[in-house]
Amino acid sequence: MNDTILVTGGTGRIGREVVPLLRAAGREVRVLSRHPQATDDPGVQQLEGDTVECRGLDAAFAGAGTVLHLAGGARGDDRAARNVAEAARRAGTGHLILISVVGAARMPIGYFRAKAEAERIIEESGVPWSILAVSQLHEFVLPLVRGLSRLPITPAPRGLRFEPVHRAEVAARLAELALSRPAGRVPDLAGPEVLDVAALVAAFAGRPRSTVRVPLAGAIGRAYREGDNLADASAVRGERTWSDFVRRP
Ligand SMILES: NC(=O)c1ccc[n+]([C@@H]2O[C@H](COP(=O)([O-])OP(=O)(O)OC[C@H]3O[C@@H](n4cnc5c(N)ncnc54)[C@H](OP(=O)(O)O)[C@@H]3O)[C@@H](O)[C@H]2O)c1
Repeated sequence: MNDTILVTGGTGRIGREVVPLLRAAGREVRVLSRHPQATDDPGVQQLEGDTVECRGLDAAFAGAGTVLHLAGGARGDDRAARNVAEAARRAGTGHLILISVVGAARMPIGYFRAKAEAERIIEESGVPWSILAVSQLHEFVLPLVRGLSRLPITPAPRGLRFEPVHRAEVAARLAELALSRPAGRVPDLAGPEVLDVAALVAAFAGRPRSTVRVPLAGAIGRAYREGDNLADASAVRGERTWSDFVRRP
């Protein structure tokens, strides 16, 4: 087995936490992003490339036995997955791991749909694979909660709930997968609690706040009300709560 692990998106919020774990396990790491960053670690090579535009992939994939595909954004994750799967096939990658989002196949939102398509592409790629779907990070929920907490009365969209998870717990699970054999679809990883907007804002503010329920319209509103963004009983739950994160990010 080739020891080098390529992490696409290794400069991002999750990737930055995964790379040191792979290094601690003794692996050489390549990081691919559009804006490579300086590193003091001779065991980490930063490469410039673009998964959506298919730039720099062959050079990055050559000789990496495992690829952890974390690069992603608001748009283009399906296209990126296609490019990554093709590069992995050309390079003979032994294990391709995709991070996805809980509810990808259910939520009627472009980001989720692209992730669902990315899952399908990786599953059908012919490259040995693992897929981990995770719920929103605490940092993803934070700007919404911070903004709402500034208002004298919190508008709480009816039925909108999150189960935020800590980035370190996501990184640890991804590193574990990258250091193991291809596992197919593994149980979703979500945060320890399902919280509505009123509970998120109260914990952030340190006290209960006046709230007013507001409707969530349309298909997206219905999907949130029905909990289509939430993990089911088969999910693995992290331990670090939203309140913990608010006190110590
Ligand atoms: N954050 C969450 O709540 C959450 C939940 C579930 C799943 N995820 C998924 O987890 C992955 C990582 O999330 P994150 O929160 O760490 O994201 P992030 O902080 O925004 O980092 C994204 C990373 O991907 C790179 N990237 C973006 N577009 C790229 C492109 N076209 N080509 C090459 N590199 C590209 C970025 O670097 P450059 O900008 O320099 O290219 C960066 O390294 C994403 O796929 C995201 O969809 C996130």
